[in-house]
Amino acid sequence: MKEVELIIEKMAYGGWGMGRVAGKIIFVPYTVPGERVIGEIASEKKNYAVAILREIMEVSPLRQSPFCNLFGQCGGCHYQHLAYQEQLLIKEQMLKEFLTPLLAKDSPCKIYSLFPSPEDRGYRIRAQLKGAQKLGKQILGFYGRKSHQIAEIKECPLLHPLANLILAGVREWTEKEAGLFIKNLEVQVSPAEGKGIIFLQAVNNITEKLVNKLITNVPQLKGVIVEGKRNFTAGEMLLDYKFLGAPGKESVFLQASYDSFVQVNLGVNQQLIKMVLEWAELEGKERVLDLFCGLGNFTLPLAQVAPEVWGIDANESAINLARQNASKNRLKNCQFLLGLAEEELAKLKKNIDRIDVLILDPPRAGAGKKVLKLAVELHPQKIIYVSCEPPTLVRDLKLLLSWGYELQKIQALDMFPQTYHFEVIAFLSRRL
Ligand SMILES: C[S@@+](CC[C@H](N)C(=O)[O-])C[C@H]1O[C@@H](n2cnc3c(N)ncnc32)[C@H](O)[C@@H]1O
Repeated sequence: MKEVELIIEKMAYGGWGMGRVAGKIIFVPYTVPGERVIGEIASEKKNYAVAILREIMEVSPLRQSPFCNLFGQCGGCHYQHLAYQEQLLIKEQMLKEFLTPLLAKDSPCKIYSLFPSPEDRGYRIRAQLKGAQKLGKQILGFYGRKSHQIAEIKECPLLHPLANLILAGVREWTEKEAGLFIKNLEVQVSPAEGKGIIFLQAVNNITEKLVNKLITNVPQLKGVIVEGKRNFTAGEMLLDYKFLGAPGKESVFLQASYDSFVQVNLGVNQQLIKMVLEWAELEGKERVLDLFCGLGNFTLPLAQVAPEVWGIDANESAINLARQNASKNRLKNCQFLLGLAEEELAKLKKNIDRIDVLILDPPRAGAGKKVLKLAVELHPQKIIYVSCEPPTLVRDLKLLLSWGYELQKIQALDMFPQTYHFEVIAFLSRRL
């Protein structure tokens, strides 16, 4: 394979260091701006190539030793070779670069400095692991970067310690019980409860007896959901979470199931909730729509202030739980609609002709033109867009700007330390 020597100019979204060779852009992961490196071209397109880092000729003083010995092999982390402070600067700069083509020179938009994660490790309350058999033994781990090779994980420093304890128990169980073969495993924990649940996809016939043995041996394990030759559950299926609610109001209780979305970093999620409430500036008379509402993470605190709140989500478990969560929090002013955003919006429009505030927090693909168009036809004065994928956020913001909205403020939050991902919250208001 061809080797190239280049100087890394900056970090690009995706966790790649970026440089040029004869004008052509080359991306090299695990590098640092300013470093002179040798990379081996792994794939080449017309406008750019991706290279594997082979040698660092000039090492950046910003480079640090990664804290996990699987860094580089496991695809989960991209930035462990950089101090946390540097990661934050990169993400903050990246948001500014994303916004440059969007904002006119005289734009009033305020770009706030990035909100760091309270914990830069041990923050993930949820993870999906892959399973395989190696020499007849079960291994569990994460896929390598851009590969389907599993890097076996004994303990992941990004995972909450409770999740690591549960995984250790599962590993011991698979070692003891011959013939077990887990293909996929999801672990989710509630630090407040000190408990977690797991979802297992098994290739072979796991029995209730075996699973009950696991629950008995792992005190942190509250319940297990098995999908295999036979589907069944053992123990309890729901985890409890508690958040600060709107100022002056009670805390919000939220129950979550393994198949409904939860924000992976609770400290940053609490900040997101706070900002959604602050930026919405509710006076207590608004009609609010929370699109992609999940379990009611934003809907419920909003409903502590606004008299009428609607939530829409396509996940049935999430909507069922959102309804239960509203009633547990004694919030009677929320209505949850189950279905695809575009379909439910079209139905909603037949019942109501306006909303005051629109919150949206779509998956990585973003909301898209169809959903945004329908939502904007409800004439929200304020829009708060929460995104975990800045490129699709920018695409959607462009549309909203062209339809008469103005971007007033935006902030990145580091929901995912050690990775290139970050969360963004944007506030738009309708031009008069
Ligand atoms: C990033 S999560 C946000 C959930 C919630 N706002 C929270 O903070 O926990 C995105 C949500 O969008 C939902 N979703 C994905 N595609 C959808 C669609 N086409 N229509 C409606 N909901 C959708 C998922 O079920 C998920 O709950």
